[in-house]
Amino acid sequence: MNSLVRFALLLAAITAIDTAQAQRALPANDTTLTHIAFGSCAKENKSQPIWDAVNAAQPELFVFLGDNVYLDTRDPQVMQEKYQRLANQRGFQQLKASTPLIAIWDDHDFGENDAGADYPIKHASREAFLNFWHEPKDSPRWSREGIYTAYSFGPVGQRVQIILPDLRWNRSPLIIDPRWDSEASYETWAKAQIDSGKEVPGPYTRNPDPTATQLGEAQWQWLEARLREPADLRIIGSSLQVLADFPG
Ligand SMILES: [Fe+2]
Repeated sequence: MNSLVRFALLLAAITAIDTAQAQRALPANDTTLTHIAFGSCAKENKSQPIWDAVNAAQPELFVFLGDNVYLDTRDPQVMQEKYQRLANQRGFQQLKASTPLIAIWDDHDFGENDAGADYPIKHASREAFLNFWHEPKDSPRWSREGIYTAYSFGPVGQRVQIILPDLRWNRSPLIIDPRWDSEASYETWAKAQIDSGKEVPGPYTRNPDPTATQLGEAQWQWLEARLREPADLRIIGSSLQVLADFPG
């Protein structure tokens, strides 16, 4: 075969690595886990040397807590390109080859900054997410209102339960604090407030709508049922700050 054809085949082979690269199966249900690693907020367009430390620690499971890529788009093609960039990260490839992975999203891999239920292409985003993270085709995550999920590993006495709620799919619209001039970026505005000795509210304020929701009713019921299941160690992964140091 001539070198041009060979080059084209090589290129095709490299392209085929893409997001379809095999992923390690999850630990068996009765496996006792002692080393679980987690992380979030990985910009796919930057180098990610952090994976060297993660891989050296040899976790038995890695939990991606959200903002695993920064899609920030309403174009499914751009989503694919950005997932491909994560797939191309050498350290991520090593992690994927050695460690079972589970994942939930936050705003940026749901679709865009601070996005919620009204993000217009969340179904396409769900498709991209679940494909990338190799969700089994018979999983309810493909069809229900939100990609929330939970796992349980280990025998009675050593059972670890990991609950990953979806804090984006059903979330009611945010209400911007009127004191924030939304023409300026929140960071710029907040810094100016601090510099002039003023209080820094927002960027958002309480939504007064009594029907406003974060999880949606079905997910609340699902969460209640998960919390009733027996576990010795319960880990709830929140893509949002739990003890936020700023309001809104
Ligand atoms: Fe986020």
